[in-house]
Amino acid sequence: MDVCVVVAVLMLCSMMVSTASSMSMNEAENSSEELRGNLLANGLGLTPQMGWNSWNHFNCKVDEKVIKETADALVSTGLAKLGYIYVNIAKWAQETEPELLFLTFPDDCWAEMHRDAKGNLLPKNSTFPSGIKALADYVHSKGLKLGIYSDAGQFTCSKTMPGSLGHEEQDAKTFASWGIDYLKYDNCYNDGTKPTVRYPVMTRALTKAGRPIFFSLCEWGDLHPALWGFKVGNSWRTTNDISDNWNSMLSIIDLNEVYADLARPGGWNDPDMLEVGNGGMKNNEYIAHFSLWAISKAPLLLGCDVRNLTKETFNIISNQEVIAVNQDSLGIQAKKVRMEGNSEIWAGPLSGNRVALVLLNRATVPHSITGNWDDIGIPENSVIEARDVWEHKTLETRFVGNLTANVEPHSCKMFVLKPIA
Ligand code: GLA
Repeated sequence: MDVCVVVAVLMLCSMMVSTASSMSMNEAENSSEELRGNLLANGLGLTPQMGWNSWNHFNCKVDEKVIKETADALVSTGLAKLGYIYVNIAKWAQETEPELLFLTFPDDCWAEMHRDAKGNLLPKNSTFPSGIKALADYVHSKGLKLGIYSDAGQFTCSKTMPGSLGHEEQDAKTFASWGIDYLKYDNCYNDGTKPTVRYPVMTRALTKAGRPIFFSLCEWGDLHPALWGFKVGNSWRTTNDISDNWNSMLSIIDLNEVYADLARPGGWNDPDMLEVGNGGMKNNEYIAHFSLWAISKAPLLLGCDVRNLTKETFNIISNQEVIAVNQDSLGIQAKKVRMEGNSEIWAGPLSGNRVALVLLNRATVPHSITGNWDDIGIPENSVIEARDVWEHKTLETRFVGNLTANVEPHSCKMFVLKPIA
């Protein structure tokens, strides 16, 4: 054989070997990445988080008095017990402290504009004079969990306090040392790099901080966080901020619905916090708001003043049957399975072969709305018992093939359907 041919064959062989080995290295990297799965892997968020956050009602006017009084109110009203059990962290918490598990936290504006000489975040002296550690101790003594807010940028959105960009490890350690259980991480005043670059830095920092901290990503759906959020956090905002009105509420839950397949235990789509009780919507509209959030496996984070609840608001947010749909162990987000103009059918599976159903009337006139078994994923000949979870009544009719209900304007009916034959 000609020497040149031998050299060429050897070169070809060596190229093939090196290509093969680099391919297998990539494959190995990919599969170990898959095995690693969630960078965070904190075991939290097995069901959507529940609790209360200051922003929707108080904006920047939040202080330690409001947080403490809210913690007291959550306990005295019974809300903390009434299914508002932050079961997702129950697993690890049970081992250490048998307690109620409900979250409360200040949103933006809780810190001074400047860090201390060592670069640490400083609680704002005029509003949180006792510091966050003391607040955490108080909240924990009530059997609740404490969340905190920061930002993957230079400042938070209010621009009244620093963000954590470039200080991730230091801030995560500070939060852990204060006894923080939950971090909401916003996206304002960032440096223009992608959220997929900035958010995982905090994920790693939290995993090293020495305390399980639920990580709630708040990048407003900018880079479709549903596609990558599961590896980085326990929930991800899918939309811009909610406003306390019917159209905003619906537009947000519509956007969130698109990502239904990507929610699962450990990682949830977050269409923003609840406005129930803040006064901008009618009672029936708030019932629809709460129902849609519950069936969508959205975080149930109250955003009203729980120290001053009306009976109507309390009845909505304390509905255990609706909360049970949200906290169902299957953790499958419902979908809008059919639309007919302003009439919509939302449905999703629940444990025990049951199905959650919301018949939503977006119109300003009443409508009769029908959920057909083939649309909502029930075998054609199944006989169904229907529980109206707002009326707290099991209907006498046994339903075959479909269920029809009259739905008032801007209202919904919500059922749990159970096959009995
Ligand atoms: C952003 C977030 C809100 C709230 C505010 C605080 O707009 O999306 O939920 O945290 O910042 O400034």
